[in-house]
Amino acid sequence: MKIIVTGGAGFIGGNFVHYMLKKYNNYKIICLDKLTYAGNLATLESVMSNDNFKFVQGDIADRSFIYNLFQEEKPDIIVNFAAESHVDRSIEDPEIFLKTNILGTGVLLDACKKYGIKRYHQVSTDEVYGDLPLDRTDLFFTEETPIHTSSPYSASKASADLLVQSYYRTFKVPVTISRCSNNYGPYHFPEKLIPLIIANALNDKNLPVYGKGENVRDWLYVQDHCIGIDKIIHNGKIGEVYNIGGHNEKTNLEVVKTILKELGKSEDLIKYVTDRPGHDMRYAIDPTKIKNELNWEPETSFNEGIKKTIKWYLDNTSWWENIINGEYKDYYKKMYENN
Ligand code: NAD
Ligand code: DAU
Repeated sequence: MKIIVTGGAGFIGGNFVHYMLKKYNNYKIICLDKLTYAGNLATLESVMSNDNFKFVQGDIADRSFIYNLFQEEKPDIIVNFAAESHVDRSIEDPEIFLKTNILGTGVLLDACKKYGIKRYHQVSTDEVYGDLPLDRTDLFFTEETPIHTSSPYSASKASADLLVQSYYRTFKVPVTISRCSNNYGPYHFPEKLIPLIIANALNDKNLPVYGKGENVRDWLYVQDHCIGIDKIIHNGKIGEVYNIGGHNEKTNLEVVKTILKELGKSEDLIKYVTDRPGHDMRYAIDPTKIKNELNWEPETSFNEGIKKTIKWYLDNTSWWENIINGEYKDYYKKMYENN
């Protein structure tokens, strides 16, 4: 089996590459990544010399490059992680989100249609469902929940999902889509809440919490997401959407305080800053479908996962210090200096 993993130098794609190479010693994994600010070859360092692995630098929105790659490699499966993934950046500058997340997905689908494929899998997000009210804890996102987006990021991901479904219906491209909740774990870029809080706390810097810190996210350890995608690409039904999430709802403040406690740092580091415009209140996945059809359930509790994650950041300081001391510095200053 030959799998092209797009965006495999990023957080979840990188974890997926490691997971698949370890699990299947007869699969060829090709990582295609543009290496944007979020792509990091250090994440893939330990597999670079693996005979079953190949890294190719390129843009999913570059049609001739993608067509050449399909012609040359004749992949069986595409798993598309490549995306601009940060909501705050999409609010600052939406255009690249439209180009990569929508047009890039369109190019990959055209390549699948032209050259043939066993499976195209789109890695999507629970953000396409919009948000849920804080006072309705009985409500969850199911696969039938209508698409209702808030940010340019989620709108671009929803557009991509619609395109994927249209290529199934109109051209019979064999697709699946997964919509997962917030991931955390190793190799998570420090612009996102959990790694940002760990890195800042370790450096005794302020911990920026948007608004009152009452927004709820449904956290999933990244390896559980990888297991879910593995099950979907092998046994998921063509044309179907699968939600992935583990009923692990926490307010942002709870998450921040948990990290501070684990690190033995003071809550005085918390600083309430201006809220994100259009900030989604609550995400919460109903994973019944993937549990019933594919026997998927999360294996790592938040309690265990956050400890493992903190340990990883403590054991791999150079991985994230190289990022926060690089061009990311300018982004951090721009985003947080006026707060
Ligand atoms: P990330 O930002 O860490 O990684 C994205 C990767 O895609 C980077 O390596 C980047 O270089 C690459 N990339 C960006 N534009 C590209 C292009 N035009 N061509 C090729 N490569 C390109 O993102 P992530 O958090 O790992 O998310 C991966 C996917 O999972 C995204 O599609 C995201 O929407 C989705 N998702 C993320 C989460 C989460 O909590 N992080 C949850 C659900 C779904
Ligand atoms: O739900 C899945 C989504 O989760 C993915 O589709 C996105 O790619 C991924 O980035 C993530 O989106 P969020 O916006 O939920 O993640 P983020 O880590 O940016 O923020 C988590 C929560 O923490 C959110 O309520 C905003 C808040 N926050 C974030 C940052 C960066 C803060 O309070 N302070 C911060 O500095």
